[in-house]
Amino acid sequence: MDNVARFGVSIEKDLLKKLSAYMKKKGYKNRSEAIRDMIRDKLVEEEWSGGKGAAFGTVSLVYSHESRELANRLVKAQHRKLGHIVASLHVHIDHHNCMEVLVLKGKAREIQQLGDMLLSTRGVKHGKMTFTTAAAIKD
Ligand code: NI
Repeated sequence: MDNVARFGVSIEKDLLKKLSAYMKKKGYKNRSEAIRDMIRDKLVEEEWSGGKGAAFGTVSLVYSHESRELANRLVKAQHRKLGHIVASLHVHIDHHNCMEVLVLKGKAREIQQLGDMLLSTRGVKHGKMTFTTAAAIKD
């Protein structure tokens, strides 16, 4: 634990109450862990918005497989962007709907563009992108 530093923080009582409520809701048992996660999240957001750092992301897409045009476009996009898509998972939700989860790797700006392109494709019923950067890994 040589790399751990301790520091005192002054905080308004109301804000501390909100932190405690947040921790309870999220299942944190340790205030330090909750604050460390918040700091990492902010650093990832900052690095991501810079657009240049190495980043990883996921894109999940829900669509009807009956939309052939969309299914073809998704496959083509994945083959064209091989360098950015490192893994994919396909789940058949029901008779009509599929979910595709892609793991993307690359520069933040590039994978953001790829994610946006996939999410805005006609026929995607719902989708979400998540991301992380080196700021979450370095401790
Ligand atoms: Ni399917």
